[in-house]
Amino acid sequence: MKDINKDSYYELYNRVRMPVVGYGDAQGRTINEQVKNYLDAIDAGYRMFDTAFIYHSERALGIAIKESGIPRENFFIVSKMWDTAMRRGEVDMMRQFEESLKRLQTDYIDCYLLHWPVIGKIVDAWKTCEKFYYTGHVRSLGLSNVKRHHFVEIMRNCDVLPHVQEDEFSPWCMSNDVRKFDEFYGIRYISMMSLCRLKYESEDSILRVIGKKYGKSMYQVVLRWNLQHGVCPLPTSHNSKRLRENLDFFDFELAKEDMSAIDALNFEGPINWDPDLFDF
Ligand SMILES: NC(=O)c1ccc[n+]([C@@H]2O[C@H](COP(=O)([O-])OP(=O)(O)OC[C@H]3O[C@@H](n4cnc5c(N)ncnc54)[C@H](OP(=O)(O)O)[C@@H]3O)[C@@H](O)[C@H]2O)c1
Repeated sequence: MKDINKDSYYELYNRVRMPVVGYGDAQGRTINEQVKNYLDAIDAGYRMFDTAFIYHSERALGIAIKESGIPRENFFIVSKMWDTAMRRGEVDMMRQFEESLKRLQTDYIDCYLLHWPVIGKIVDAWKTCEKFYYTGHVRSLGLSNVKRHHFVEIMRNCDVLPHVQEDEFSPWCMSNDVRKFDEFYGIRYISMMSLCRLKYESEDSILRVIGKKYGKSMYQVVLRWNLQHGVCPLPTSHNSKRLRENLDFFDFELAKEDMSAIDALNFEGPINWDPDLFDF
């Protein structure tokens, strides 16, 4: 753990290297603000970026990567197929995928996810994504907003096992059930919404108390806790100082008792919608 830094990576089960930390979706109302936010993140040292067709930030990411002057292969881009195309079928999925490549100004995506498990469509949608994988247009595949049974459906009917899962992971929702499943099958967990509840923490919050012990903010504590659980966090911030601070969690190690104290906050309480009860 001591040798890990912001440039370290997890090796996915197909040997593709994915950074240990990524940057979440662009912040900003206009494309110029989004590009600026991405450039700040690149300047801070982030090389993995999580976007999606539906976020309307792929274009800004493509521009920022070009403007940075850093070679494309130094970045790890995650993007996602949105529901409408999955509902309409393969031709629409191919069109949406091509549009994503165009917006991102690239000819491949490092990790491509089904954004939401559209009921009755997940197997067909996955088979189309397998084609992107086999032709080298994506380097790894994954699912988002899913439960164990979605993986089982894919394992029963498709060829490529997801390389990653992107879902909620915070001290209050550790998603232990599905993470145990992922661990068993070698699927890497990317965590979303890890920081967004922290603004509600009280002055005497255990997370602040632990932070004081290490001279770190509770945001850095939660990011470190992600890392020590083998999870890849995706912090995001409007603020260029805060997005830099969010990369400063590699120079300390949470003791076992502090990891346990954070784990003890978990009540498996998601803020996200339940994919079995909600569909777009
Ligand atoms: N696959 C999916 O369906 C899905 C769903 C949700 C999210 N995601 C991904 O996960 C990423 C992260 O989730 P999220 O959007 O919920 O964001 P998050 O990173 O969990 O939380 C962002 C919030 O935390 C604040 N913040 C961040 N760092 C801070 C710091 N050091 N000090 C104080 N406040 C800080 C930000 O405020 P300021 O901006 O003011 O700093 C913002 O309000 C998203 O951007 C997206 O890429 C994916």
